[in-house]
Amino acid sequence: MRLGTPNSPTAVRVMLLGSGELGKEVTIELQRLGCEVIAVDRYDGAPAQQVAHRSHVVAMTDAGALRALVERERPHLIVPEIEAIATDELARIEADGLATVIPTARAAQLTMNREGIRRLAAEALGLPTSAYAFAASEAELATAAAEVTGFPCFVKPVMSSSGKGQSYVERPDQIAEAWRYALEGGRVEQPRVIVEGRVDFDFEITQLTVRSLAGGVVETSFCAPIGHRQVKGDYVESWQPQPMSAAALSKTRDIAAAVTTALGGLGLFGVELFVKGDDVWFSEVSPRPHDTGLVTLVTQHQSEFALHARAILGLPTDAGLREPGASAVIYGGMDARGIAFEGVDEALAVPGADLRLFGKPESFERRRMGVALARAADVEEARDRAREAAGKVRPVAG
Ligand SMILES: Nc1ncnc2c1ncn2[C@@H]1O[C@H](COP(=O)(O)OP(=O)(O)OP(=O)(O)O)[C@@H](O)[C@H]1O
Ligand SMILES: [Mg+2]
Repeated sequence: MRLGTPNSPTAVRVMLLGSGELGKEVTIELQRLGCEVIAVDRYDGAPAQQVAHRSHVVAMTDAGALRALVERERPHLIVPEIEAIATDELARIEADGLATVIPTARAAQLTMNREGIRRLAAEALGLPTSAYAFAASEAELATAAAEVTGFPCFVKPVMSSSGKGQSYVERPDQIAEAWRYALEGGRVEQPRVIVEGRVDFDFEITQLTVRSLAGGVVETSFCAPIGHRQVKGDYVESWQPQPMSAAALSKTRDIAAAVTTALGGLGLFGVELFVKGDDVWFSEVSPRPHDTGLVTLVTQHQSEFALHARAILGLPTDAGLREPGASAVIYGGMDARGIAFEGVDEALAVPGADLRLFGKPESFERRRMGVALARAADVEEARDRAREAAGKVRPVAG
């Protein structure tokens, strides 16, 4: 791999599809290696667009618009940052040799739909998962819950992320409401949901897994496991390393290796798993940096963003942990444009603390606007510090 000079004929051009806070950090890492970065999102002024060479506002689910943009910009690499993309068009772009899709167009297709990735993991690879079934009507859902998963169970649109349209269902009489809610939160015209039996886990983790080139051969490497806490399908805090038994760690890595090998390509993946004692269940996987991995900005020699940037460029990576740390999300707390943040000085006065403010032009009550990070001698202290720092930052109306 030869790197070049941005805005010149030697440039390595990278197009980001989705330009949120994760894409912003990937962009910064690519910029550090002299790549030319083109940031795309469906609204103007998205975080990664603020640090890229150029940006475009495009509906990325619009196949024609996506194709036209790729033909105009001729990126070498296309890096999806979100799931809601016209992935069939990405497959055509890849097949036509127009650009390399990260990690592969097929991985983007499979993971944008819970059915694709679940069937791959559970049926093709035989990995342990929750009991599950798919349903295309309320009646099918009721039958599937009664016969396959039992109660409690989770109902999720097959096309949705960040907990949208997701319900925790404890009794049969809640099925109708779960079906209605899934229709609202899903991304597609013809409704389809997955119903999953609840896994009664001790804790859940993200196993960041890197596929990068070492001496011309693809090598799989693993970051230390990240523990996290979810509220309504959205992560509120994460920490690294999550302590776990040697047997569970070894199963975690076997599962992560199997699923990332099956998806293929180069890049970093966030494999979500549930752990109980020595048992491990696969939940889902993002073929890209994971929100809970923001913690790696302070814990690793190379953050998940640096690892992704290097891996996709065909460069060597180092997934090693430097020290324990934690992250705590900072929400907007209000619906307003151009908000300000007070208490940043107090937050950064917390020992070992750091901060990212994403610069999103518009705040919502539950929109992630920033993240507090903290390093410490152990994860408990790091979590306390990250929560304390996050609590000091006060969003205020401009
Ligand atoms: N079968 C299950 N058993 C136990 N807990 C579950 C199950 N499915 C989901 N959860 C809980 O709900 C959270 C969100 O589920 P999931 O990751 O499938 O949704 P998502 O919309 O893809 O969220 P995100 O995009 O934030 O990862 C999980 O992290 C876990 O805490
Ligand atoms: Mg998830």
